This record gives sequence, structure tokens and C-alpha cells, in this order.
Amino acid sequence: MAWEFRKLRPGDNVAVEAQRDPFAPPKWAPPVWHMPEGLVLIVNAVRVLVRTVAFLARHIVPVTVLSGLGWLGYRFGWPVLAVVLALVLQGLSVWALVDNPSFVRWVARPAQSRWRLIAVYRRHWQPVLVTAGLTKVHKGREYLPSLVRVRSGATSDRVLVKMLKGQAPEAWERVAVNLAHGFGATLVRVRDGDRPGRIWLEFVRRDALAVPIPALPVPDPSEVDLSGLEIGRAEDGSPWRLRLLGTHVLIAGATGAGKGSVIWSTIRALLPLLLGGLVEVWAIDPKRMELSFGRALFERYGRYSDDPKGGMVELLEAAAEDMNARAERFAGVTRSFTPSHEHPFRVIVVDELAFLTAYCPDRDLRKRAESALAVLTSQGRSVGYCVIGAQQDARKEVNNLRNLFPDRIALRLDEDEQVDMVLGDGARDRGALADQISSVPEIGAGVGFVRLETTPDPVRVRAAYVSDDDIRDMVALGLPDLDIKGAA
Ligand SMILES: Nc1ncnc2c1ncn2[C@@H]1O[C@H](COP(=O)(O)OP(=O)(O)OP(=O)(O)O)[C@@H](O)[C@H]1O
Ligand SMILES: [Mg+2]
Repeated sequence: MAWEFRKLRPGDNVAVEAQRDPFAPPKWAPPVWHMPEGLVLIVNAVRVLVRTVAFLARHIVPVTVLSGLGWLGYRFGWPVLAVVLALVLQGLSVWALVDNPSFVRWVARPAQSRWRLIAVYRRHWQPVLVTAGLTKVHKGREYLPSLVRVRSGATSDRVLVKMLKGQAPEAWERVAVNLAHGFGATLVRVRDGDRPGRIWLEFVRRDALAVPIPALPVPDPSEVDLSGLEIGRAEDGSPWRLRLLGTHVLIAGATGAGKGSVIWSTIRALLPLLLGGLVEVWAIDPKRMELSFGRALFERYGRYSDDPKGGMVELLEAAAEDMNARAERFAGVTRSFTPSHEHPFRVIVVDELAFLTAYCPDRDLRKRAESALAVLTSQGRSVGYCVIGAQQDARKEVNNLRNLFPDRIALRLDEDEQVDMVLGDGARDRGALADQISSVPEIGAGVGFVRLETTPDPVRVRAAYVSDDDIRDMVALGLPDLDIKGAA
């Protein structure tokens, strides 16, 4: 190619002249290739086909049912279709009446989940997420987290979400309120998903624990499981089971939070073994209020007025001493504890723990109580001792034994900082809003948050309410046995 040099003259198009520059790098443009129309049609047809097959496969059940019904109507006429539909409905109603739990599990819940997926979540997904700032626009394209699955329960929906790559659950926690309003829920909690990059959003539609739970029936002796005593209900309707074997339990809650109902529901769940002599409850009741009513059920009972100079502390020290003797006996023999008549499982219930460890006017008694509690909690777990402590104040300085209680229950608390003090760091961020529990007894008493072994997320629970009459009945159940005990 021949290049021509010449001076620029006025009126020359500079851009065109520049292109003539022999030293300019060559410019490449991709070749433009026009796809034949037929090929475009084939590609689109294949795309539609693949999408249709995927859609049919994903909705196999409704598709099969609808096409079956359509075929029936077409082949035999609509009266036959109506009769078949009526029979199916009747069959479903009979199923619902005869075995409601399985009907709910296999028919009602899946149908409800699908309905809410379509009518609520998919419908509002994009607008709500865009407004909440959970989408990203990059090079003009919008990236939207995907909605994987919806599982509806009686009072809440769990929605599995695949986050955008690089997104963290915290981004969702920050906008939980936006999500709740956007999808018409009262509350949203963010939970870990089934694998990294996915999260469960728990949309609470209504409070399942807003109505008090009456005292649970006293179980059969064979049903009492010290690793999981049923004492109330969790938010998802499952039983709230409290472990006593191999642990100690701290119940923290402001005045009137319902600490008594947790204690009494536990004693009620233990009752058959208590009466059978396999479990003993030693109770300490500084306020002379909570436990005195059922005192006949306790092997030992200490209260402030019995002996202000140390009845309660002596009881604790006796327990610690006995525990030491037991530990010595079991050392090297067995590592797991099974209650027997000779060595019953001992539950030491201390209402108002802080009275012994902080408020008791006598400094010497305080020290003694603290060291007895430290011995019991640090060594008692493997030899059949369990301490249940209740206290109003969760502050660190009030109870420095707190970390010796592996299982902790946060009922209604006065301040939000107390939640993490009771349940451990990050519990409130993970949804344990114990400071927001209602102080109206009917709505909020006995309601609290616990951390279960299976999940790091706090679970909302409510203890059953054991009334004075229930306690009277429990004492009456125990009376014949207590007579025998007295005679022996
Ligand atoms: N689980 C429950 N369900 C419904 N109502 C409850 C429940 N527990 C307690 N209540 C109601 O709340 C009131 C206060 O409960 P409770 O005496 O157990 O509180 P507390 O936490 O022990 O308070 P305090 O620290 O003052 O002793 C009870 O008199 C009862 O009316
Ligand atoms: Mg109380």
C-alpha cells in the first residue's frame, strides 16, 4: 500500500487526515455476520422447548393433576369430571379428619407453601429487594438474589435464598425490617442456609406463643427423659425440651418475666421420678415466695427465714460435700451417670441466685455460697447434680458464676445489652430480642429465648404455666409416697 505525505490544508478533515497517518496503529473491527433467519428461529424454538420441559419437570405434580383432569373432562364430559373432583375432595376431607397431622404435612402445608411462594414472595420479590438495596446493577444489568424454596408453617414461613455472590447475611439482617414490611410479616429473622452462599429468611406471620400454655400433663415415668424434659413450646409448635442431665441451667428474667413457670414446669416434668425416688429436688428460696408452695415435694428446702445466718448456704454446702463424695466413689468406675435409688439425680433449684452471690448482707456467707456453687457447677455435671439458678439481673458483676451454667434461658430482660450477657455474644443480633418481650403477663410471661445444641440461632420458646392449683395437685400426688418416706 502506498502512503502519501502532504501538508494539512485549511478545510481538511483532521480525523480523516489522521487516519492517513502511516504510523498510527491499525484498527480492527469484528466482522459483522448476519445470522440466517431460519437459524434464529431454530435457536429460539429450542430455547422455548427446554424452558417448557424444565417448567413441567419442576411443577410435575400440579401439571400431572391438571392434565389428568383436563383429559377426563375432554374424554368423558364435564359431569364425570365433577364427580371425580367431588370424590377427591371428599377423600381429602376424610383424610384431614382421620389423620390430621399427616394431612397437614403432606397436603395442606405443601399447598400453602406453593401458594405463598407464588402469591407473596415471587410476586413482591423484585420490588422489595430493589427497595431494600439487596440487588446490584452492573454494566446496565440487574442482579437479583434468587428465591430457592418456601416452606410454610402454621405461624411462619421459611424462605431459602441464594444470595448474590459476595453478599453476606449481615446485609440482609440490616434490612430485616424492610423485608418484614415488604412481605407483610411481623418479624424477619436471618438464619444460616443449607450451604455457604444461601440463607433462610424466617418470616413470622403471627405470634404462636401469644396465648398462655396451660400446665402440661404429668408424664409417665417411662417418658421422663432427663436429657429433654418437655416444659413448654417453641415458636414452630414443637415441644420445648430442657436438658438437665450433664448440664446446669440459668434462667434470667426481669421481675414478673415468668422464671417461676420455667422452674415449676421443670419440676412437674420430673414429678414421676421425683415420686419414685430417682430424682431429688433441693430448693433454695430466699424470697420465701416461689417455691414454698410446693415445699412438700422437695427433699430439702432452705429459705431466708429458716435461718438467716446460713440455712440456705448450709444446704448448698451439704450438696457440694455429697457431690464430692459421689465423685470420689464414681472415679474410675463410670463416666456416665444413671440415677438409682442409692444415687438419685439431684436438682438444686436456687430462686434469686443473686441474693446468695451478691445481695446477701453477710460477706462471709456470700463467699461460702459462691464457692459451694462453684464446686457444684464445675464438677457436678458428670455425677448427677444439676443446678437450676434463677435471677433477675444479668449483669456480670451480679453473678460471676454465669459462665458455669452451660444452658441459659433469657426471659424478658430490661435492657438490650443484657441479652448477649445471658445468651452469649451475638445472640441479640441473631434474633434473641428478649428486651422486646411484652411485659403483659398473658402475652409475655414465660416467653424467652434459648440456644439449643443443634443450632447457633436462638429459638423463641414459652414455658407452660403451672398454676397454684396445679402445684397443689402435684403435692397431693406425692402425699402417699411422702408418708412412706416418713415412715421408713
Ligand atoms: N408461662 C406463663 N404463662 C402465662 N403467664 C405466666 C407464665 N409465667 C408466669 N405468668 C404470670 O406472670 C406472673 C409472674 O410470674 P413469675 O412469678 O413466675 O415471675 P418471676 O420471673 O418469678 O418474677 P420475680 O422475679 O418477681 O419472682 C405470674 O403470677 C403469672 O400470672
Ligand atoms: Mg419468682
